[in-house]
Amino acid sequence: MTQLILSADPGFVHLALEEFGRDSHNGQPLDELAPGVSLVDCDEGFWGLAETWIDDPPVFTRHICPVDLTIPLLATPRDLSRLSDAAVAEYADLLDPEVSFSVQSRVLLDLPYKPFDVNRAVATALSSAASSPLDVRQPFQILSVVCAAVDRPPGSEKPAAESHQQLAFMGLSLASHNISDWAGGVRRFRREKDRISRAEFKMLEALEAFRIDLPAGGVALDLGAAPGGWTRVLRQKGQFVTAVDPAEMHPRLAADRGVRHKRMSAEAYLREGPDAFDLLVNDMRMDARASARMMNAFADFLYPHAEAIMTLKLGKTAAALGPACAILQEQYTILHMRQLFHNRNEVTIHLKLNDL
Ligand SMILES: C[S@@+](CC[C@H](N)C(=O)[O-])C[C@H]1O[C@@H](n2cnc3c(N)ncnc32)[C@H](O)[C@@H]1O
Repeated sequence: MTQLILSADPGFVHLALEEFGRDSHNGQPLDELAPGVSLVDCDEGFWGLAETWIDDPPVFTRHICPVDLTIPLLATPRDLSRLSDAAVAEYADLLDPEVSFSVQSRVLLDLPYKPFDVNRAVATALSSAASSPLDVRQPFQILSVVCAAVDRPPGSEKPAAESHQQLAFMGLSLASHNISDWAGGVRRFRREKDRISRAEFKMLEALEAFRIDLPAGGVALDLGAAPGGWTRVLRQKGQFVTAVDPAEMHPRLAADRGVRHKRMSAEAYLREGPDAFDLLVNDMRMDARASARMMNAFADFLYPHAEAIMTLKLGKTAAALGPACAILQEQYTILHMRQLFHNRNEVTIHLKLNDL
């Protein structure tokens, strides 16, 4: 099969499909399975596109998974055993016994079972039929199962007589080919009671997705820091933080000797004369181009080994993205740029200073 399922933020799915159209051969959207979830087809199929995107990752496409087979659903609990039987018949011999696997399910319609039930049933059946070890935390191979309603069954030219046929799409891939390690790119973090702001999840997700390791004892500058979610995450990672924001920081951070709050704008701090930093982060609510120019202005105050993480706030068209990146590239190399699950109308970028 040459079909795959592509997932993106519903507000940016048009940009994800543009990326798909640009980077695939004869790529075509076939059906919208749910907001942000598209069944698509391209000549090179999942593996060809995945290889292309490993070398040059997309920004707005959060996750892809292959479609090897489709199974009509009865929409009763009997589906669990039918899906398990189909998975064993198709994949027991295909799974590489040397490396781990996991089942990642999504249920995109109203069914009498949840993704967890599908994961458990299919993984249990495969575990007893194949010798690949099950590892849900860091699997090497992923069996994706997506239960959804389609207007047009895959392969048919005309709309189905009975519209909204309910199907399970199954496909086996390597976790490294799916863009995200999480089903549909949906990365949820445990809620901590000490959490200061939702923005913390953006920083946690960026550190994980971009595989950024912050050596303890680093000195970080947090622009647009209030109320302090990113600052809190950076403190947990052992950084000393200068938090710049005219707004108030959370009282808990005010008492932390590892945090210095400069209660002023980034522009004012620049005039004051900043120190030197190992890490620059910027979540300022500001036009993307202005924010990029601000990053460039602070580049002079970074050590040569410094890295930077920032969000660029975008409108629906993301028209500012290209110009903002061009500004950033005067001083920085873009290492990663993704529209992450915890981003709203924005992308997160990971940067390093240009070599001199
Ligand atoms: C989305 S919030 C940041 C949330 C923060 N990262 C957190 O984790 O809690 C955006 C912040 O940017 C700040 N901001 C906007 N313009 C700024 C500027 N010119 N200088 C400094 N901060 C600015 C706002 O005051 C606001 O607190």
